[in-house]
Amino acid sequence: MSEPPAPLPNVAMIVAVARNGVIGDGHTMPWHLSEDLRFFKRTTMGHPMVMGRRTFDSMGALPGRRSIVITRQHDWGAPGVEVAHSLPDALAMVAGDEQVFVVGGGEIYRQAMPYAARLLVTEVDQSPEGSVTFPPIDPQEWVETAREPRPGFAWVTYERRS
Ligand SMILES: NC(=O)c1ccc[n+]([C@@H]2O[C@H](COP(=O)([O-])OP(=O)(O)OC[C@H]3O[C@@H](n4cnc5c(N)ncnc54)[C@H](OP(=O)(O)O)[C@@H]3O)[C@@H](O)[C@H]2O)c1
Repeated sequence: MSEPPAPLPNVAMIVAVARNGVIGDGHTMPWHLSEDLRFFKRTTMGHPMVMGRRTFDSMGALPGRRSIVITRQHDWGAPGVEVAHSLPDALAMVAGDEQVFVVGGGEIYRQAMPYAARLLVTEVDQSPEGSVTFPPIDPQEWVETAREPRPGFAWVTYERRS
């Protein structure tokens, strides 16, 4: 059996998760939290973002941030983004950056969990219907280091236990 990937200190995942683990309904997010969208923007601004092709389809290229889109399609491309054909390739492209954000979606969060050193989780006080979920945050591997409650949600930081 091959070794699990080693966590990378520059890799954080940023996500908004409902109480039932739902993060999306296939195309879009099941809620609209403008304060959280502003938090996402100011947190990620100036840093590279790694995302799955379906998440790119739902949000497009965001200004001020390098976007690396992961796809298995070798003829895929879009203006303003860089393309990678695996998660390790995407992370290698941003290895020199001090801080990198994995921004989803469900498939990419699952694959990126072993690489991440930090999780920035917006816990949304809702339990919507949705087919896309965030992987479980194992308390043996992650410790909550900050929590900021807001109306309808909370910003929670997890750091990987060393
Ligand atoms: N709540 C949040 O914070 C949040 C954040 C982001 C996204 N979302 C939601 O999540 C949903 C999208 O998530 P998703 O799981 O459906 O899709 P996704 O993770 O965004 O993208 C999946 C796509 O990534 C590519 N891919 C995945 N693994 C790969 C690999 N190992 N090698 C090469 N390419 C790979 C494939 O693209 P190809 O099909 O092109 O090959 C695959 O179809 C949407 O509903 C979105 O709104 C929520």
